[in-house]
Amino acid sequence: MKVIALYSLKGGVGKTTATVNLAHLAATHGARTLVWDLDPQGAASFYFRIRDKVSGGRKILYKETLLHRAIRGTNYELLDLLPADISYRHLEIALNAERKHEDLLGNCIQSLRQEYDILFLDCPPGISRLSEAIFRHADLVLIPSIPTILSMRTIKRIIDFRSKKKLTNSRVRAFFSMVDRRKRMHIAWVKRIEEMRPLMLNARISALSEVERMGEQRAPLTATHPTGRASMEFRKLWQEVIASI
Ligand SMILES: Nc1ncnc2c1ncn2[C@@H]1O[C@H](COP(=O)(O)OP(=O)(O)O)[C@@H](O)[C@H]1O
Ligand SMILES: [Mg+2]
Repeated sequence: MKVIALYSLKGGVGKTTATVNLAHLAATHGARTLVWDLDPQGAASFYFRIRDKVSGGRKILYKETLLHRAIRGTNYELLDLLPADISYRHLEIALNAERKHEDLLGNCIQSLRQEYDILFLDCPPGISRLSEAIFRHADLVLIPSIPTILSMRTIKRIIDFRSKKKLTNSRVRAFFSMVDRRKRMHIAWVKRIEEMRPLMLNARISALSEVERMGEQRAPLTATHPTGRASMEFRKLWQEVIASI
């Protein structure tokens, strides 16, 4: 099983949007796919029309049976979801209370390995104990970035954090998200993509109203508008993602 985390220090950069569409693409390509909605705001659960409530709350971190019982099927073949739960606000507390050599997230991931080919982690924003656990266990940490100077600094901070904590097992890749061709700064950053290799992937996701409307349809765009521009862009991103794992 490969673990792909959509992660950033920042909120509102396109993590959940990418998770939902990439996971749907993975499943349509025949991979048994699970999305774990780790953000207590529950946006990924919302897009898949699944209630963001887990019986047992964060106890699922400690009990394999509860974890497996919390998994829900989605409307899409091969694609399951582990919903968010409001108790994930306290995930940090649980992780901070870990004893030496205890590895809650790692154990959960381990117990999912037989059933799934790909696990997507839709992460909450922030840099924390959870981020450390994610860097420890993800094969690929994928960072959506709006092409602005602040976003570029954010990527640097994430990379520095990873080096400082010696969490260098996972591969890190970023991609430009919400690219607005009318904005000069966006164009300027996108032009510099070559300098940012191999960190920055070539695929980019444009700022499009069809993506915003995903919230009304509550479904992956790659399912509802497979020939639309956003779906084409997500497919390109997916090609690069599978080449990186
Ligand atoms: N490519 C895009 N074009 C236009 N709106 C977008 C795009 N990607 C995301 N959005 C919108 O921006 C908001 C934040 O996106 P989301 O994926 O939830 O970010 P995150 O998970 O990083 O907080 C949502 O309302 C979403 O619909
Ligand atoms: Mg999100």
